[in-house]
Amino acid sequence: AQNERDSLFIVLNFANEYFKDILHNHEEGKSIGLSYFKERGFTESTIDKFDLGYTLDTWDGLLKAATAKGHTEAMLEKAGLILKPEANKVYDRFRGRVVFPIHNVAGKVIAFGARTLRKDKKQPKYINSPETEVYHKSNILYGLFQARKAIRNADTCFLVEGYTDVISMHQAGVENVVSSSGTSLTKEQIQLINRYTRNITVLYDGDSAGIKASFRGIDMILENDLDVRAVVFPEGEDPDSYSRSMSSEVFQQYLEDNAQDFITFKTNILTDGGKQVDPVKKVQIIREVIESISLIPDGIKRSVYIQSCASQLDIEEQVLISELNKILIQKQ
Ligand code: UTP
Ligand code: MN
Ligand code: MN
Ligand code: MN
Ligand code: MN
Repeated sequence: AQNERDSLFIVLNFANEYFKDILHNHEEGKSIGLSYFKERGFTESTIDKFDLGYTLDTWDGLLKAATAKGHTEAMLEKAGLILKPEANKVYDRFRGRVVFPIHNVAGKVIAFGARTLRKDKKQPKYINSPETEVYHKSNILYGLFQARKAIRNADTCFLVEGYTDVISMHQAGVENVVSSSGTSLTKEQIQLINRYTRNITVLYDGDSAGIKASFRGIDMILENDLDVRAVVFPEGEDPDSYSRSMSSEVFQQYLEDNAQDFITFKTNILTDGGKQVDPVKKVQIIREVIESISLIPDGIKRSVYIQSCASQLDIEEQVLISELNKILIQKQ
């Protein structure tokens, strides 16, 4: 119901203000949370822009503060802010972590991601809000609220894996960027981007998980009839770490110089930058690329990509077309 949604927005907004207050005004928040963000190179204005916060390393910091202000346990639980494993056991979901609020396109806080500051791997790196009445993960893109105008102006959108990638790219002067927050890209998220632009550039982490995710993301984007490019980062780098290792100008230039159409991108990765081109491998690559092309709904685009594939992989266009047609017939 609308009433319940409004109540959730109110308690989520309270939590957001509370986490920000702790970050800026509480000793633990300042010495641990704020220092952490500063060490990562985030400026005050970035911290403000993204509403970053901190949650105390106690069991009930938010619970106490919120109930003291009249928010009910029931509402806090529905908002995903507290956990109630048993009737007489109740505690904060996010504890001793820096907090990244997730906004809807209208700018209302609907969920949180919270990062541990510990180096040990005993806890998950990020804990995120569960699905709630106002937060449906598959329909949300982190950073869209802060990026939407820039996406429309640039008529293109960068898609990254993580919260910090979005934030660091803003600091590097690239504001048309959103994140699927570690989950695989959905049709709904692509349709959301489609309201602002039909051009997406995928910037996933330079590791095997990132490459796998970018292949899947590219196929999803093609299937939904948007145009896709991709940029590879050096092994071990993500847009956050890479942008911070150079000036904004050099980073922006890197994005421009290294954006590849998906055929070039896939081919380069599958051949390890052109090193492996034995016939067995080549056949695999061609099949991979044709599979992607077969997902494109528009016949003209398919034919343009087939031409490009033929010349890049040095193979007869007719052969590709007949293979593509086999796949398309199977799909009917
Ligand atoms: P990464 O592991 O690449 O983290 O996950 P990151 O964004 O680079 O974070 P830093 O730089 O180490 O702080 C990418 C995204 O996947 C989600 C988060 O949204 C994260 O930003 N994720 C990752 C989770 O939800 N839970 C996890 O335990 C890890
Ligand atoms: Mn709903
Ligand atoms: Mn990663
Ligand atoms: Mn990363
Ligand atoms: Mn990172």
